Amino acid sequence: MVTEYHIPVLLNTAVSFLINPVIRDHVIVDGTLGGGSYTRLICESISDKSKIIAIDKDENAIAHTTNNLGEYRDKILFAKGNFADVKRIVSDVGYASITGIVLDLGLSSYQLNEEDGFSFMKNTPLDMRADKSAALDARTILNEYRESELTEIFEEYGEVSRASRLSKAVADARRKQSIETTEDFIKIIKREYGFKATMPVKFLSKLFQALRIAVNDELNDLKTVLSGTMEILIEGGRIVVVSYHSLEDRIVKNFFREHSEKTVQGGKALKILTKKVIVPEYSEVRMNSRSRSAKLRAAEAVVV
Ligand SMILES: C[S@@+](CC[C@H](N)C(=O)[O-])C[C@H]1O[C@@H](n2cnc3c(N)ncnc32)[C@H](O)[C@@H]1O
Repeated sequence: MVTEYHIPVLLNTAVSFLINPVIRDHVIVDGTLGGGSYTRLICESISDKSKIIAIDKDENAIAHTTNNLGEYRDKILFAKGNFADVKRIVSDVGYASITGIVLDLGLSSYQLNEEDGFSFMKNTPLDMRADKSAALDARTILNEYRESELTEIFEEYGEVSRASRLSKAVADARRKQSIETTEDFIKIIKREYGFKATMPVKFLSKLFQALRIAVNDELNDLKTVLSGTMEILIEGGRIVVVSYHSLEDRIVKNFFREHSEKTVQGGKALKILTKKVIVPEYSEVRMNSRSRSAKLRAAEAVVV
C-alpha cells in the first residue's frame, strides 16, 4: 500500500497569509519542508524569479522532496538543517533578507509512522530524533535524566499532573534494566497507573509528545527562529506559524504581541494579521484528524 508522506494542514490558508501580493519577487523560507506540500503550493504562487529556501532537519524529508519537487528545482534551494539557524542558512545560500517564512511545526506523518520512537503504536527503539545526527535521544533522557528533570518534562511539556510518580517508576525500572524501546516505556506507564489491556491513548500521546519536545528542543528552536527572522525579514514580509501544542502557540502569540506595532516604538515591528487564532474547518478535521489541534497565526513586518 502506498501511504502519503504527509497530509498538509491549513495548506491554502497558510500560503495565502504567507505571500504578500504587494511584493513581486520573493525569497521565502519554508522552515519545515516535510512532505513538501507547502513548498509546492508556494512555488505555484510566486513569480519565476522568486526563490524558496526549503529547510528540514530530517534528511528523509529532504530526500523525499528533492525527488518529488524536481519540476521546481530552479526555484527551490534545499537545506538540511535546523530552522533555528535561519539567519546562517539564508546567508549560506546567498541572501541577506527574506520576504516571508512559514513554520508548520511538529512531525510529518512519515516520521510518526516510519521513524523510531515517535509512535506508541509500534515497538521501536526509543529514538525520537528528527535529526538523526543529533546527540540526544529519548533513550538517553529516560535512562540518564534525574527524576526531577523527568517530572519537569512530563508536567511542563506533557501537561500531566503529579508526574513525579511516573518519574519514580522510570527510575526504579531503569535500576533493574535499561529502558530501550517504546514497549519498555509503555510497560512502566501501564504498571504504574494500573492500566489494563486497553491503551490509555490520550495519556500516552501526551507523554510521547513531551519526550519528543525535550529530545528535539522544540520550544527553544521556535523562540530562536522567531527572533532570528525579525532581523532578516523585509518590510511587508510575513511570518506564518502553524502549531499543534499549547506551549508552542503561546510562544508565537507572546512573540507577536511583544513585537507588535502597538508595543514597539521606532524600528521594525509586527502587524498581527490574525486578530483571532485560525483553526481548521470541521471538514478538514474530519478528513485529517491530525489537524484537530492546529492553530495558525500570521504577522507582517512593518516599520514604525
Ligand atoms: C508537520 S511537518 C511539515 C509538513 C509540511 N508543511 C508539508 O507540507 O508536508 C514538520 C516538519 O518540520 C521538520 N522540523 C521540525 N522541527 C524542525 C526544526 N527545528 N528545523 C528544521 N526542521 C524541523 C520535521 O522534521 C518535519 O519534517
